[in-house]
Amino acid sequence: MAKHLSLLLCLYISISAIGQINPKLQSKIELQVKTIEPKIVEWRRYFHEHPELSNQEYKTGKFIADYLKSIGLEVQYPVAKTGVVALLKGSKPGAVIALRADIDGLPITERNSLPFASKERSVLRGQETGVMHACGHDAHISMLMAVAQILASNKADLKGTVKFIFQPAEEGAYGEVAGAELMVKEGVLENPKVEVIFGLHIQSLTPLGKIEYRAGGMMAAVDAFDIKVTGVGAHGATPWDGVDPIVVASQIVSGLQTIVSRQTELTKAGVVITVGSFHSGIRRNIIPEEAMLEGTIRTFDPEMQQKIHDKIRLTATKIAESAGAKAEVIINKGYPVTYNDPTITKTMVASLERAAGVENVSITQPVTMAEDFSFFQQKVPGLFFFLGAYPAQMNLQKQPTHHTADFMIDEGAFVTGTQGLLNLTLDYMFQNTSSSKK
Ligand code: NI
Repeated sequence: MAKHLSLLLCLYISISAIGQINPKLQSKIELQVKTIEPKIVEWRRYFHEHPELSNQEYKTGKFIADYLKSIGLEVQYPVAKTGVVALLKGSKPGAVIALRADIDGLPITERNSLPFASKERSVLRGQETGVMHACGHDAHISMLMAVAQILASNKADLKGTVKFIFQPAEEGAYGEVAGAELMVKEGVLENPKVEVIFGLHIQSLTPLGKIEYRAGGMMAAVDAFDIKVTGVGAHGATPWDGVDPIVVASQIVSGLQTIVSRQTELTKAGVVITVGSFHSGIRRNIIPEEAMLEGTIRTFDPEMQQKIHDKIRLTATKIAESAGAKAEVIINKGYPVTYNDPTITKTMVASLERAAGVENVSITQPVTMAEDFSFFQQKVPGLFFFLGAYPAQMNLQKQPTHHTADFMIDEGAFVTGTQGLLNLTLDYMFQNTSSSKK
């Protein structure tokens, strides 16, 4: 990341001029955001009622593509299975700015009694399930459609190109390269080459109207590990005849926790190691031959991430060896760190403050959840922020978080979110000087 950083610093050192956005255009756009609000709500309710699972967003993708075509954008569809990419070219040359919204729903049966609650059902891995926009991606789509509409209507005043990325499968799809990773592989950031990318995530537990961001690692990298412990089976009455994989795997679970508590510099960045699944044995008086552990790793620093992987391998194999068992460790890298480029973040915070009010913009603690926006940020510098949408009618005791059947957001957040994306785009467009270098 350090190498990455210095490269970015060189690239962006040239950004110094204060935004040249015409105040008349700014106030016109602010008015347009207020005018389009009912439409954003209407779209969001449509998407909420018709959610689709990751990589199955056929109706969603088509709806977005048709709309973007209708407002005169150059639309590519489908991209990376069900995604949509659209270009808006301004009247003058300038930077290529990408804006991204994720579009998938989740395999959850909605419990809310909203008039537009989802009744959709689908099948996932052979199991029937309800489908629900339980992470707010319905809101992300709708706000980005509004941004596209407003920018398209001001095309003559714009410079450079805005690339709208409606990305499928942020939540991942079993056994498939999905979402942002596939989009990057399919060249979404090329042709024309994207210079900077912006995105947001609505947050149901963050107060309405607030915006939160963080320079550097904002959301964790997530990696999965599987540990297979092989012992020697025996009668439960005579453990000395075998090697008990349950006891060995239990020691490994404890050993993994000491990696975090005793061997990691936690003041540098947070680390989480969770064993979420432990399977072994079939009846009480049989010592089985195998135990399986499955877990998740969350890190914010690529160097620490590599060290944690090494330590997990070492801890598991050596504990097993000391007991005469064998441990095989498989670690699969998931989403990288959602890393906000420090220079871009510093330069662009004022744009968010103008959208939400200075008093409503703050720095968030690092979040141990992951987000595949990070795949875009690995290739181009970007800024990702949280949009507070804590619903007034929500019962705090129940705390319906993201990914639950009671998940809810306050639609009052849409104006702030839409304005935030517009300010970032326009401020970058008019203060960016690097396009002249090209
Ligand atoms: Ni989400």
